[in-house]
Amino acid sequence: MALFLDSANLQDVRRAAELGFVAGVTTNPTLVARAGLNGKQAVREILKIIDGSVFYQVTENSIDGRAAEAREVFDTAPERIHIKIPATLENFALAKRLTDEGIHCAMTAVYTAAQAYLAGQVGATYIAPYVHRITTHLGDGVGTIRDCAAVLQGTSTRIVAASLKSPDEVIAVIIAGAQDVTIPLDLILQLAEHDLSQQAIRDF
Ligand code: G3P
Repeated sequence: MALFLDSANLQDVRRAAELGFVAGVTTNPTLVARAGLNGKQAVREILKIIDGSVFYQVTENSIDGRAAEAREVFDTAPERIHIKIPATLENFALAKRLTDEGIHCAMTAVYTAAQAYLAGQVGATYIAPYVHRITTHLGDGVGTIRDCAAVLQGTSTRIVAASLKSPDEVIAVIIAGAQDVTIPLDLILQLAEHDLSQQAIRDF
C-alpha cells in the first residue's frame, strides 16, 4: 500500500521526502511544465531528493520515439523508474514490447475496466485510473476502481489511483481495491488533519 506524491515541484518533493512515509513521486507532462523543468531533468532531480519509485510519462510523437524515450529514462534507474504510457491501442502494443524488455510500464489516463484488463494482459506494473475525472465524465470513479480491481485479480498489475480530490475519495478508492494512491502535497497533508483532533488536543 503505497502513497505517492503527484507533483514535479521540487519543493513539494522535498517536503514529501521529509515526511518519510511517501513512497515516491508520479509526474506527468503538465506537472513537469508547471514546475518549469523538462521531464528528464525533473526525473533526475526527483531521484536525488526522495527514495522510492519515480514515474515518468513518455511524450514523443512517434511510437519508436516513445520506445527510445522510455528506454533512455528507465535506464537511468531501472529499479526505481516506472514509465507512464497513456492508454491507447498503439500504446498497449508499445507497453507489451517494453515489458518484454524488462521495462516497468504504468498505463496512465485509464478510464475503464476494459483498459485495466488490457494493462494486465501486457504485464504493466501499474494502471493509473483518473478517479475524479471518471466520476465527472462517466459517473462513478470509485465503482470503476472496484471493477479494475476485479479484472486485475490474479495479475501483478497494481492500481495506483490518481485524480483524487479529497480524503474521503482517497479512502473510498482504497476500500474499493486500489493498492496505491497518488495525490498532490496539499491532499497528503489533509489526510493527517481533522478539526476535532485539534479540538481534542486542546481539550486534553
Ligand atoms: O497525474 C495525473 C492525474 O493525477 C490527473 O489528476 O487532478 O488533473 O485530474 P487531475
